[in-house]
Amino acid sequence: MTATAPLAFRSVTRVLSCIQPTGSVHLGNYLGALVNWVRGQHDKDVFHGIVDLHALTTATEPGLVGAATVELAAILYSIGLDPEVATIFVQSHVPEHAQLGWVMECTVSFGELSRMTQFKDKSARRESEFVSAGLFTYPALQAADILLYDANEVPVGDDQRQHIEITRDIALRFNNRFGDTFVVPEAVTPAVGARVMDLQDPSSKMSKSGDTDAGCVYLLDSPQVITRKFKRAVTDSDSEVRYDVTSKPGVSNLLDILAAATGGSASELAESYSQYGPLKADTADAVIALLDPIQTRYRELMADRAELERLLRVGASRARAVASATLERAYTAIGLLPC
Ligand code: TYM
Repeated sequence: MTATAPLAFRSVTRVLSCIQPTGSVHLGNYLGALVNWVRGQHDKDVFHGIVDLHALTTATEPGLVGAATVELAAILYSIGLDPEVATIFVQSHVPEHAQLGWVMECTVSFGELSRMTQFKDKSARRESEFVSAGLFTYPALQAADILLYDANEVPVGDDQRQHIEITRDIALRFNNRFGDTFVVPEAVTPAVGARVMDLQDPSSKMSKSGDTDAGCVYLLDSPQVITRKFKRAVTDSDSEVRYDVTSKPGVSNLLDILAAATGGSASELAESYSQYGPLKADTADAVIALLDPIQTRYRELMADRAELERLLRVGASRARAVASATLERAYTAIGLLPC
């Protein structure tokens, strides 16, 4: 297919998803998104970006994003992404993201961006701090990330659904204006773990920007720290173990985590417990067992930074081959004067 040919039929499903190199990766990222990235890699054509340009939307000190990018790459390989089949790349290594990002900004409206709940939440939380224009236009760059790869599926946690919806709207609008150019993607969320909640405040999702570290389990937390965080997890006022997200959000969150970590069903697991203590202890143990091999592999990979950087260069070149063809197709569809 030439760069400007119409979309060719592809028999293999193309998958694209990304993660920001801000703070440390936590259990919500892992169970909500990363687990699905690994699952699909052998029968689908998968691309995963470490989106360092997105991380710039919240101001940062020099060097921090670069350091977090290498660590995140090590995590992605440690969880089982295979560099032979999965293309892992750094967003700023593929300049087409920023280029198509501008086209996307011109295809989305101010009103649509104003309705994004993540922007409303994040800007409200930053109240007296600097709120960048990038934080507002963020979903346009995210749309570029996805559409550049002709992705059919985007495996994400629940909190990203709105961003995938707006990506679909942008793709449809562009295709309507300029002719069939982009594949319209679908969000894929896991049956369990799509919304892992904060252990201290089960009404909020687990996140790097939560109020305390105590509610967030990081992939690199030691077994002692994990045990302590689960022991102190907020449960509910009565002492009955039952799966009921509305009236028992704390206990249901623990059951969801246990189910996601062991492959069971949350409501069936509830039947084996009559007290909170054993549920907390078993959930902590299941998470420790899940993370142990990841932590070992992470330490090995971080000891060879040159190899990590080499893998990322290979990923960038594979990603660019796809992204540059799509960008050219979009420019041609618009009718920009060729160089
Ligand atoms: P980020 O970096 O905040 O999170 C990465 C992935 O983790 C999921 N996630 C969760 N899932 C379940 N429970 C939680 N508590 C939880 N917290 C986070 C997120 O849904 C996400 O899938 N805007 C995106 C990054 C992005 C992107 C993209 C994603 C940029 N371009 C293109 C997909 C496709 C973000 O900030 O994710």
